[in-house]
Amino acid sequence: MYDLHCHILPCMDDGPSSVEETRKMLKIAVQEGIQVIAATHHFFDDETTIEDYLGLWESRYKQIQSVLEEFKKDIKIVKGAEVMISPFLTQLDGLHRLCINEGRYLLIELPMMDIPQYTEEVIYNLRLKGLVPIIAHPERNRRIMEDPNLLYPFIELGAWSQVTSGSITGLFGDKVKRCAKILLNHNMAHLIGTDAHSSGRRAPRMKEAVHTLKKWTGREKADKIVNELPQAVLNNEFIEMDTPKLYKKSIFTFFS
Ligand SMILES: [Fe+2]
Repeated sequence: MYDLHCHILPCMDDGPSSVEETRKMLKIAVQEGIQVIAATHHFFDDETTIEDYLGLWESRYKQIQSVLEEFKKDIKIVKGAEVMISPFLTQLDGLHRLCINEGRYLLIELPMMDIPQYTEEVIYNLRLKGLVPIIAHPERNRRIMEDPNLLYPFIELGAWSQVTSGSITGLFGDKVKRCAKILLNHNMAHLIGTDAHSSGRRAPRMKEAVHTLKKWTGREKADKIVNELPQAVLNNEFIEMDTPKLYKKSIFTFFS
């Protein structure tokens, strides 16, 4: 399996604060059957530069060489970032260098409580640059949780989205879980990632989520989400997506 959203490198952001904690996370990831991790640490364009982010990424990666050596038969770490959306994002030179495994797929994050007005324009401009934005954990965004169809126009523009594995297993509550299911069943979510930050509550776990995913979507679609699409991202391949469908709220939902 593939985890294209993980805060695994030590002392980069709010992820692990020591090499030992990174080692514990890698051990769990291997037990979960994860073979490739994209180390996607937070990137804010008003706090750092692409050059500085990548410099720090490389130095932290070097710091864990002995740990990687220990797990090298089972798992590898590739480049990435979790880029906070900003109106100035597409003006940055070399933005493609933050893409997952140096391809065309860029993990972007919306604020938790809102969808900024410029989101559609940023996604459109990213697509014009030949990049494919992957919207991280839309099911945890307060407004999308209330109305899953707010994600629809972004997917129509060619963005992908990625649900957090813990959202599927109920780690973030019932509302988030319900939204994750709607997005996955309406072709508005295409990947799952752990968004792991530690070896504790936010550990890199996938197995249980994949088990539930198979029940929600069926085996064939789950295989696409868990294997086929992440492989396309890692290999920088273009892939035909299933057409997104609008969610129609059932009348019974009002009474539940
Ligand atoms: Fe994250």
